[in-house]
Amino acid sequence: MAAEPNSTPPATDLVLPSPLVELHDESLASREVRVFLKRDDLIHPELPGNKWRKLKYNLEAAGESGQHTLLTFGGAYSNHIRAVAAAGRHFGFATIGVIRGEEHLPLNPVLAYAREQGMRLTYLDRTTYRAKASPEVLEGLRRRFGEFFLLPEGGSNAAAVRGAAELPAELTLPYDVICCACGTGGTLAGIAAGLPPGKRAIGFSVLKGGEFLVDEVRRLQCDYGTVTTNWSIELGYHFDGFARRNSGSGNRLRIQPVNRWQKPSSLRSWSASQPLKGSTSGQRVEVRLVTTTTAAVRKALASSADENSWTADELPPDADVLQRIVVTVNGKDSCPTT
Ligand SMILES: Cc1ncc(COP(=O)(O)O)c(C=O)c1O
Repeated sequence: MAAEPNSTPPATDLVLPSPLVELHDESLASREVRVFLKRDDLIHPELPGNKWRKLKYNLEAAGESGQHTLLTFGGAYSNHIRAVAAAGRHFGFATIGVIRGEEHLPLNPVLAYAREQGMRLTYLDRTTYRAKASPEVLEGLRRRFGEFFLLPEGGSNAAAVRGAAELPAELTLPYDVICCACGTGGTLAGIAAGLPPGKRAIGFSVLKGGEFLVDEVRRLQCDYGTVTTNWSIELGYHFDGFARRNSGSGNRLRIQPVNRWQKPSSLRSWSASQPLKGSTSGQRVEVRLVTTTTAAVRKALASSADENSWTADELPPDADVLQRIVVTVNGKDSCPTT
């Protein structure tokens, strides 16, 4: 009989809390800003960055579910695929990686590594891949591979949010803002959910066209059960796509103002007929529009502002704008259940 998976790693294998190191750069010093890097990359050599945080409670849930196989999705260069393959080997789960697009041989280093860890790779054409969360696609995968514990793309779900929400409690120095990359939204959703009052989180979309992330972070926080308004997402720093960076600046940090309007295309309009978590029929709900700008980011970095919310006419005309509707039921933030 196969050994039962073990979802609890020996604590000695993990570097937690991860170290905090200060970045020194003249562009920061001249603006009297201090920036620290939380070295989550040192948490575990095979589960670095946000990976352990996002997998921790998922592995626990997988163990409790009695499943012996983890199935997840990702692009051909996905670090999440890599991490799930490694986690499967460490904790005794079989793993299946469903990869977007066609197979290319020889395998790239990410997929070659995943296969070395024992991950079974399969491929979905891009159209089917877009529907990967649909019951039809999942049923097809179950018919092919049998029962599995499903980890969504990027590992972002309520359990991942729970793990990421533990990060702020590791910070012992005073701070105003936590910044993180934002790819599927789980890390930002968790960090924001775990922040103490008065602190803010800013996610930097690594994707071109990352407007959808605003709704996604909100959905993930809803699923987790804690919805906060202490976060925003910067959409203009993707340098043209995932894993790209600006050329010419070497390793120097640059802080540059973004002086253009950004259409709040991710703003969702909700009609009163949509069901809201926690509301009963006929109950009054409060709806407000929260607007943040990069000016707010600069302000937050400079003076630890608590809440950045303005009416449109108070905003500078050249401000970069991100808007979001917040719905409050019984004084608690809510969101549509649809
Ligand atoms: C350290 C770190 N932070 C944040 C992210 C983005 O995570 P998410 O997909 O949860 O938005 C990544 C991407 O994998 C990451 O490695």
